[in-house]
Amino acid sequence: MKNISRRNFITKSTATAAAATLGLSFIKGENRIDARFGKGKTFKGGIALSTWDAGVEANDAAMKTMKNGGKAVDMAEEGVKVIEADFRNLSVGLGGLPDREGNTTLDACIMDSIGRAGSVCFLEKIKHPVTVARMVMERTPHVMLVGEGAQKFALSQGMTLDEFKSEEAVKAYKEWLIKSEYKPIINIENHDTIGMVTMDTQGDLAGSCTTSGLAYKMRGRVGDSPIIGSGLYVDNAVGAATGTGLGETVLRSCSAFLIVELMRQGMHPQKACEEAVKRVRDINSFMKEEFQVGLLAVNKKGEIGAYALREGFTYALAKNGENKVYKSDFLIK
Ligand code: GLY
Repeated sequence: MKNISRRNFITKSTATAAAATLGLSFIKGENRIDARFGKGKTFKGGIALSTWDAGVEANDAAMKTMKNGGKAVDMAEEGVKVIEADFRNLSVGLGGLPDREGNTTLDACIMDSIGRAGSVCFLEKIKHPVTVARMVMERTPHVMLVGEGAQKFALSQGMTLDEFKSEEAVKAYKEWLIKSEYKPIINIENHDTIGMVTMDTQGDLAGSCTTSGLAYKMRGRVGDSPIIGSGLYVDNAVGAATGTGLGETVLRSCSAFLIVELMRQGMHPQKACEEAVKRVRDINSFMKEEFQVGLLAVNKKGEIGAYALREGFTYALAKNGENKVYKSDFLIK
């Protein structure tokens, strides 16, 4: 990958040298592995865990990437790119439903196994926001770029503008304009964000999350998906978590970070997801509208968690040679 100007940005080697000078051993995840997650217990078979049915295709791409020698972060990027490029999908990538002004705006983030994170928000006309997020992570000293700045950066890195507009999304938008009524539909309109967590053959973890966000949102609205700690969190010493659903409710609860912290305390990923969903319910109890949230997690041992607020959340798990869709358990029965 071509690095951006030395004058403006710290190069990878400078950053590494600086870290070494400062004795920042924490950049190596394995140095922080808690006794509970000791090296001997790390699962090394490879895992891809993604939100929703379409996660199966993303998992396939992730596992193929791993088999070709890719690391967890490569799996996380290549996996969700399949969904970003699927213009039939109405809530990820340029095929996504637009905001209320008719523009599709994209949010994405990625985290790798050495604690790095990259994110883009409110990005327009770029086919693979997750790749831009990875470039932010690997080629700049920053974590997040937004809007025009994110697009300018993407173009500077060789990406091109894509004017694609999904016929289905344009038609849906025209129909929506008749009443311009904002009524999110649980599990359909709002929740096809793809969040993915991955583990490679070394037992290292990474994750990604990408979305076009809420249909007919206010221009400039950003949800949980590109926010490190809300839509995604990875700590290679402990585990990784991601989610989908009404972003505002996840943002208020920092769900992904909460799950990883609960796992750090020894909680099984399933229990951690359940606790985090209860937290989402409690923190958002002032809301009158019904909403959906679905959360996923994996720990260093390769154990999985999945839980949702309401019925209807599905996820795809690739592990031990299988790649299948599962129905998630849920809180409000
Ligand atoms: N979870 C995606 C969003 O609310 O934008």
